[in-house]
Amino acid sequence: MILRDRVVLVTGAAHRLGRAMALALAGDGAKIALHYGSSSAAAEATAREIEALGVEAWPVQADLSRPESIVALFDGLDERFGRLDLLVNSAASFRKQGWERIAVEDWDAALAVNLRAPFLCMQAAARRMRESRREEAAPALVVNLADLSGLQPWQGYVQHGVAKAGLLHLTRIAARELAPAIRVNAIVPGAILPPPGLDPSSERWREIGSASPLGAPGDPSRVVQTLRFLIANDYVTGAVIPVDGGEHLLGPVNH
Ligand SMILES: NC(=O)c1ccc[n+]([C@@H]2O[C@H](COP(=O)([O-])OP(=O)(O)OC[C@H]3O[C@@H](n4cnc5c(N)ncnc54)[C@H](OP(=O)(O)O)[C@@H]3O)[C@@H](O)[C@H]2O)c1
Repeated sequence: MILRDRVVLVTGAAHRLGRAMALALAGDGAKIALHYGSSSAAAEATAREIEALGVEAWPVQADLSRPESIVALFDGLDERFGRLDLLVNSAASFRKQGWERIAVEDWDAALAVNLRAPFLCMQAAARRMRESRREEAAPALVVNLADLSGLQPWQGYVQHGVAKAGLLHLTRIAARELAPAIRVNAIVPGAILPPPGLDPSSERWREIGSASPLGAPGDPSRVVQTLRFLIANDYVTGAVIPVDGGEHLLGPVNH
């Protein structure tokens, strides 16, 4: 897919990895619907950076744990752009919690944001993408951001890991359901950005990164490279691509 003048929705794009992907795709000429949950100031700042690249940015708030909020997000997208070519499901919650302490509400909250929301976004996106594709040769694209907890049994991330594992299987199911009009792929980042509160130049972060076979943490540009590959290659669907220095080969080393 050629991105110039195409419309991209990136969820969780106010900062961190979502922001890096939104800025990169804006640099490639796409119009960006920049979703955020609570980080309105950061979303506005990212939108201004995108506009400075000479493309449209539309910051849009939605609580992805609420299905009606997702409906409103896509209604707004229709009004603003009237088409959708690429959805990047990046927003996620990330919570460590002991097995015994997990309440029904905790389970539901993790599944709502990390699994149900990507599904509802894909379902809403697919309707729009089919419309947008009528005059296009190339399929539209969904890219889901999972993590290694979806491949490995991390301790302390029960509901999170189950949701991310579900997202990976949903990626493959959706790839079949939505072909040939829409391709669906997943990226599985490893140690790309430290969790909030951990300094990227800290010894602890270097230690975490050096546990992978390639021996160092990554950075958002590695995920962006993979995203660009998935955009460019119209013959890839249902793929799950770890971008983790090979950490998936080892079992749960950091958790
Ligand atoms: N960073 C890494 O190294 C890494 C490693 C493995 C996997 N990943 C995956 O890659 C993706 C992006 O990573 P990240 O580190 O950039 O993520 P993040 O900072 O943990 O979260 C991204 C955004 O998700 C949004 N979000 C959470 N709950 C929401 C809700 N109920 N409604 C709306 N938005 C909500 C938040 O937006 P607001 O701030 O606006 O509320 C947050 O900024 C995630 O799916 C993550 O699991 C990242």
